[in-house]
Amino acid sequence: MKLSINIDHVATLREARGGLEPDPVTAAHLCELAGVHGIVCHLREDRRHINDRDLRLLRETVKTRLDLEMAATDEIVTVAIDTLPELATLVPERRQELTTEGGLDVKGNRHHLRDVVRRLQESEIQVSLFVDPLADQIEAAREIGADKIEIHTGAYANARTEDQQRELLEVVRAGARLARELGLGVNAGHGLNYLNMIRFRAIGDVEEVSIGHAVIARAVFVGIDRAVREMLALVC
Ligand code: PXP
Repeated sequence: MKLSINIDHVATLREARGGLEPDPVTAAHLCELAGVHGIVCHLREDRRHINDRDLRLLRETVKTRLDLEMAATDEIVTVAIDTLPELATLVPERRQELTTEGGLDVKGNRHHLRDVVRRLQESEIQVSLFVDPLADQIEAAREIGADKIEIHTGAYANARTEDQQRELLEVVRAGARLARELGLGVNAGHGLNYLNMIRFRAIGDVEEVSIGHAVIARAVFVGIDRAVREMLALVC
């Protein structure tokens, strides 16, 4: 299984002060040096974390693969076509949400999404659709010509008991298998962390996971010791 890192939360921290640090572009570079297979960012319509400058610099500097998470709107499709990420992952987007909630309703929006998928593919951008592990949504993704799906793992990640976790992993597994049988590539993500990944990594048919919050949150703790020591050396 491959790992892509979503660096949005580095930009969220930068935006807390409205300055230049920490720079998500630097974070992407360090993730690549650590060996990740790809970098993911979500250019939201309200630019609440990643902004147009970040995306431009990421496109210039990412050497692995750039996956642009995006809403299927005219404005963002135009940005994607100008930027040419290797992959565009279409997600539902609502301004009030803290993070992406729920998968796309591909079935209910097939006409619009088919058009967006076609426009992106005409620019040689592969297209993935972020969907819940539901057979009808996965079949609709195939029908409208997507290259891949990304299975929403939020329900699995939020399971409260081991039984529930096992059950929800089977739902993801079945979705991944169906997608592969239909000839779709399969990514997965949302809420995956250092604990729930232990069970998840045994799943078949998922080629790549996209992880953001858990890794950026852990980076604060594994890096805090050195950061404090460096400041102590300056101050004392
Ligand atoms: N995949 C998609 C489509 C997402 O929207 C997100 C959240 O930005 C992720 C993966 C990563 O989720 P997390 O930050 O919980 O690892």
